[in-house]
Amino acid sequence: MTFDSTATGQDSNPESGDPESSDAKLPDRYGAMCLTQDQSFMEIFQAGLQATEMNNHPWLRPRFFHMVQMLKLTSGLNGATVDAGCFRGLSSYLICKYLNLEKTAIGESSYLGREHFMIDSYEGLSEPVSQDGQESKQRWGEKAFTDTSVERVLQTMKDFPDIKIVQGWIPDVLTEVPEQQYRFVHIDVDLYQPTLDCLRYFYPRLVHGGIIVIDDFGPWRNKKWPGCQQAVRLFSKQSSIPFAALDTGNAVFFKR
Ligand SMILES: C[S@@+](CC[C@H](N)C(=O)[O-])C[C@H]1O[C@@H](n2cnc3c(N)ncnc32)[C@H](O)[C@@H]1O
Repeated sequence: MTFDSTATGQDSNPESGDPESSDAKLPDRYGAMCLTQDQSFMEIFQAGLQATEMNNHPWLRPRFFHMVQMLKLTSGLNGATVDAGCFRGLSSYLICKYLNLEKTAIGESSYLGREHFMIDSYEGLSEPVSQDGQESKQRWGEKAFTDTSVERVLQTMKDFPDIKIVQGWIPDVLTEVPEQQYRFVHIDVDLYQPTLDCLRYFYPRLVHGGIIVIDDFGPWRNKKWPGCQQAVRLFSKQSSIPFAALDTGNAVFFKR
């Protein structure tokens, strides 16, 4: 029996081939299964893309589908939510739309963004370090993720007027976030140092049952944002806290 690597979206020889090309096969698998049948998610995701004027990259939809599934697992827990690395606000838009569904499903009034924190420089990436590799350095040089602003994000998030925008560089800006506990944390800062800083800051502040989702863990040998994966592995090793790597590229920590 021969092993058909294309059927699984896995690279059978991790030393060869482009991990991103494996990612490109993901929508076929997930689209054919649960994801596209979740009408509510599909509508919210589409509205989010329009609101943020983002392209639908192949890995985006399955990754964010997993993100909101993890958010749903924390339903009913006390604590704030945070999105560290927002860019134009797509991930926060999805998080807040799901928090709204959660509230209205139990007959409460609409969710207006209370206790949701959106942390970003709103000026792009901080300077990559050696762990981040050449491509990250190049993206930084090209001023990736600078095509945004607080005003633009506030407009995208207009249904949630109570959200808290926290503008500045991680880790320094974390001192501006009120001391509190969290039920759900999304980390999408792409780079080694801010990912590590966020994990070290937020994990101890998670409530029991709280969840952290890291967006850019990536394929097992992540060539695109290698620093993010190294930060996750280092945090896990140093703190003896396990994580789950999902085949959509996210990684997940759960507070026990
Ligand atoms: C991939 S984008 C986030 C995408 C976003 N989650 C979405 O849904 O579209 C990465 C973001 O991390 C931010 N970022 C990277 N390093 C940072 C740092 N050290 N401090 C603050 N923001 C940072 C960038 O400004 C950028 O907006």
